[in-house]
Amino acid sequence: MKDINVALIGASGYTGLEIVKMLINHKRFNLHYVANTTGDTTLEELHPALKDVVNFQVDKADAKDVANECELAFLALPHKASMGFAKELLELGVKVVDLSADYRLELETYEDFYCEHEDKEHIKEAVYGLPEMYREEIKKTNLVANPGCYPTAALIPLLPFTDFIDEGSPIYIDAKTGVSGAGKGCKPITAFGHLNENFFAYSPLGHRHMPEIEEKLLKHSGKNYNILFVPQLLPITRGMYVSTFVQLNKRVDDPAKILTEYFKDEPFIRVRETPVDLKSVAGTNFCDIYADIKEDSLYLSSSIDNLLKGASSAAVANANIMFGLEEDEGIPKIAYVP
Ligand SMILES: NC(=O)c1ccc[n+]([C@@H]2O[C@H](COP(=O)([O-])OP(=O)(O)OC[C@H]3O[C@@H](n4cnc5c(N)ncnc54)[C@H](OP(=O)(O)O)[C@@H]3O)[C@@H](O)[C@H]2O)c1
Repeated sequence: MKDINVALIGASGYTGLEIVKMLINHKRFNLHYVANTTGDTTLEELHPALKDVVNFQVDKADAKDVANECELAFLALPHKASMGFAKELLELGVKVVDLSADYRLELETYEDFYCEHEDKEHIKEAVYGLPEMYREEIKKTNLVANPGCYPTAALIPLLPFTDFIDEGSPIYIDAKTGVSGAGKGCKPITAFGHLNENFFAYSPLGHRHMPEIEEKLLKHSGKNYNILFVPQLLPITRGMYVSTFVQLNKRVDDPAKILTEYFKDEPFIRVRETPVDLKSVAGTNFCDIYADIKEDSLYLSSSIDNLLKGASSAAVANANIMFGLEEDEGIPKIAYVP
């Protein structure tokens, strides 16, 4: 029975659309309120692909309207836009899963890399929405800060190896994404003429997901690492592929065995015997990982769907955990292959 009323703010965006797709089939979450900046439209108008599948009035976002009828709100909004709504919703007793960066980081780090924070009270209460690190904490919180897509794909394969990596070591993270990672808005570097048959790095060694990776690895291991993170844009729509190279402080014979043991109870982590690919995770909540070693140099590769495990299905899985539901309720597992 769909008995938990849910709001979605940011319905016209890519991650908002993915959340709608999952809630259609969700047994308990009932999509009840849908909004964006302007409202006065319908889901079908915003997303013609939903014609004859689901239709919904889309309103201009209003936190009080949400609180009157919903227990949970997904905020699929750009950073800065989210915290205004989250603050009001939390004060009105609504649980929040925020897909933006507004609650992911320590206040100081956030203000260094984003902007002044407008909700200093709740940033302390937020739980980082990576169940592979914080499942027990997610069960108890009213505010989940959904991780960035790059940090999701970079952090997960590194978690089992921090005992083998000395404080201060450089960790080289070579990351590639499809263009949907930038959202639906068009920018010169995402314009077809520039992107098609092209490949390039952007914000190398200075991307705002780097402090997120650094901060979460420090929390996990107690060690400060020198993260050398280079994001690159692929001329594809969805998919994220991360290759990580790191020197280990002692011999590891079988890194795949360490990964398999560490993630044995994780429903959405798959350790592969051959290098990962993008198609096997497209359309799913899986993170695929492959590892190899040469003397004490470790190579890790991981792949996710940036819109799903990197955003929307991670958000719905977090909400399932917050409400004590089956973690995989409504979560896609079958990839878009071929
Ligand atoms: N795309 C990814 O792969 C990905 C991965 C991880 C995290 N994220 C994060 O998820 C969030 C959403 O990303 P996206 O890719 O879905 O972005 P998007 O495609 O650009 O969509 C943004 C949505 O937010 C709405 N919006 C913007 N400002 C608003 C406001 N002030 N009030 C109400 N609605 C507002 C927009 O509505 P209008 O259409 O009316 O402007 C649109 O529906 C971002 O914070 C992003 O960093 C995205």
